[in-house]
Amino acid sequence: MSQEPFDFDGAYGDAYERLARTAIPGYLSSFRQALALLQGRLGPRARLLVVGAGTGIEIVTFKRAEPGWRLTGVDLSAQMLDTAEHRVREAGVEAGVTLIHGTVDDLAENDFDAVTCFNVMHFLPDDGAKQALLRGISNRLAPGAPFVLFELHGDRAAPDFDELFTAWSRYWEIQGMGGPERVEFRARIDAGIHWASEPRIRELMARAGFKDVRRYFRSLLYGGWIARRAR
Ligand SMILES: C[S@@+](CC[C@H](N)C(=O)[O-])C[C@H]1O[C@@H](n2cnc3c(N)ncnc32)[C@H](O)[C@@H]1O
Repeated sequence: MSQEPFDFDGAYGDAYERLARTAIPGYLSSFRQALALLQGRLGPRARLLVVGAGTGIEIVTFKRAEPGWRLTGVDLSAQMLDTAEHRVREAGVEAGVTLIHGTVDDLAENDFDAVTCFNVMHFLPDDGAKQALLRGISNRLAPGAPFVLFELHGDRAAPDFDELFTAWSRYWEIQGMGGPERVEFRARIDAGIHWASEPRIRELMARAGFKDVRRYFRSLLYGGWIARRAR
């Protein structure tokens, strides 16, 4: 493993999508679930921001179903954005898609009609970085607009954490991940995931100016929440 446990501009970035499909329960479905939730709240010309656009699956899923949505994807990794750009072009949905290298704080626009942030916040330490991400997202949203968050979570001291973690590791094996890859993936998780419990996530969201926080998904250690920016 390189020094950075989740090097999205390196070996992990190359392997990311295959690993995500293997290790994240309901990975592809998670984007369709977000689409279903957002379709209930947005009109046909909505402006969405995808934070941590990754390889572009989320953007393509949204655009195929809602061609009129205008999507801005932002990501810190040039390599991941490159993959996203190819995927968007291959899918023929590039009209109305803007990809930006950076973070939410680099965006010129605000007042988005919705924001999604999938599999990003768990990489940030809870030393102000998670809070800053959520605050940056909240600042980019129109008042009352929805935010969908999906990520690993858990309280490592809670009685169910070990059981869920063990089951999650077993799930990697059931999904076909080989032994050496499981060892390496576990080392990445131990070095690079900054766990937060659900109550802590809700606290961070409230402090960032979100209300009506509802969990719509849980599987093993993954959770999905939808909230809205307070007016
Ligand atoms: C695990 S991938 C998730 C990609 C996609 N959302 C998905 O669920 O497949 C995390 C992505 O977030 C990006 N990232 C990490 N921190 C970020 C930040 N503060 N702002 C924007 N992107 C970030 C990484 O470069 C990486 O491409």
